[in-house]
Amino acid sequence: MLVTGGAGFIGANFVAHTLENHPRYEVEVLDALTYAGNRSSLAPVAGAVAFHHGDICDAELVDRLVAGSDVIVHFAAESHVDNSLHDPAPFVRSNVLGTFTLLEAVRRHGKRFHHISTDEVYGHLPLDGGKFTETTAYDPSSPYSATKASSDMLVRAWVRSYGVAATLSNCANNYGPYQHVEKFIPRQITNILEGGRPKLYGAGLNVREWTHVDDHNAAVHLILDKGRIGETYLIGSGDERSNAEVLGTVLELLGQPADAFDHVPDRPGHDLRYSNDTTKIRTELGWRTRYDDLRAGLAATIDWYRENEWWWQPLKAATEERYRELRR
Ligand code: NAD
Ligand code: DAU
Repeated sequence: MLVTGGAGFIGANFVAHTLENHPRYEVEVLDALTYAGNRSSLAPVAGAVAFHHGDICDAELVDRLVAGSDVIVHFAAESHVDNSLHDPAPFVRSNVLGTFTLLEAVRRHGKRFHHISTDEVYGHLPLDGGKFTETTAYDPSSPYSATKASSDMLVRAWVRSYGVAATLSNCANNYGPYQHVEKFIPRQITNILEGGRPKLYGAGLNVREWTHVDDHNAAVHLILDKGRIGETYLIGSGDERSNAEVLGTVLELLGQPADAFDHVPDRPGHDLRYSNDTTKIRTELGWRTRYDDLRAGLAATIDWYRENEWWWQPLKAATEERYRELRR
């Protein structure tokens, strides 16, 4: 199995999940080690994985690695909405051209491909109702989600035009260990652990469907084992919370006063709410969440960041500096 983006947050958790629960796979990772990639996220499985430091846009390298694999699970992407608003170019390159490069190699060599995508391709929903389904029309808001939507379209077209054996999944917001400190939950936890204050965009009313990374990765394995070629599967816990509510829980779990945070200017084009209807993956593939208690999941995540300062501390100052630049 070739895992692209295996040194990122979800990819590194996926590699560990695979080795533990699906030992029949020999796992290789292809990762460019951008600012978001971190070899130390693979430290727990270092001896068991072949690591290739390289770019998914490098057609020659990709061709060789795809030729030597049976299945390719494609996580590699530029993943952060705020960065995409500031500089969309790397998003177009990695997310669109990178996926194209992989698809061409997969087409040449006739391999099984799974494409990891996001609920953000569908745009956003009102606060008071509605859900995305696998047939919702694409309506991306940000450069990030537009490039992920483009990559999904390429995968669908390569299935229909060339018969490539691909599946897609579009998951809601993930949380868990090894998530970059630029993202909402780790940013607030590590701000507090460093004696600083959390930063809430706007009024904090935006709603996200928080899903534990291990539930996401278990779903991906179900799709690899039993998913129908050409199909899209939505993934999400069903646990929708406003950002203000999640931040309130983090503050409480860390023993902080409820008002110990700063309101900062809102993200431009900030999607209001995401919510996935997961009937298809539940009924067709029997997927169930294991992490049903967000408060407990957040407490475990806080413990992880408390115990693994060595992992996030080297990233923290540069991340906050980048936020200051983005806001200038
Ligand atoms: P991440 O930013 O933590 O990791 C991305 C990884 O991809 C990094 O290791 C980076 O070095 C690598 N990468 C980037 N460009 C590359 C390139 N050109 N060549 C090779 N490697 C490259 O991202 P994440 O949060 O783990 O997200 C992984 C995937 O899951 C993405 O495709 C994202 O769109 C999708 N997704 C994320 C979430 C979420 O909540 N984080 C939810 C749904 C879907
Ligand atoms: O929905 C899936 C998507 O979830 C993935 O496709 C993306 O890769 C992933 O980054 C995530 O996108 P979001 O934009 O939802 O995640 P982020 O962690 O950046 O922000 C979550 C919410 O918190 C969002 O409403 C913005 C808000 N926020 C974020 C940060 C970093 C804050 O209020 N303060 C912050 O400091």
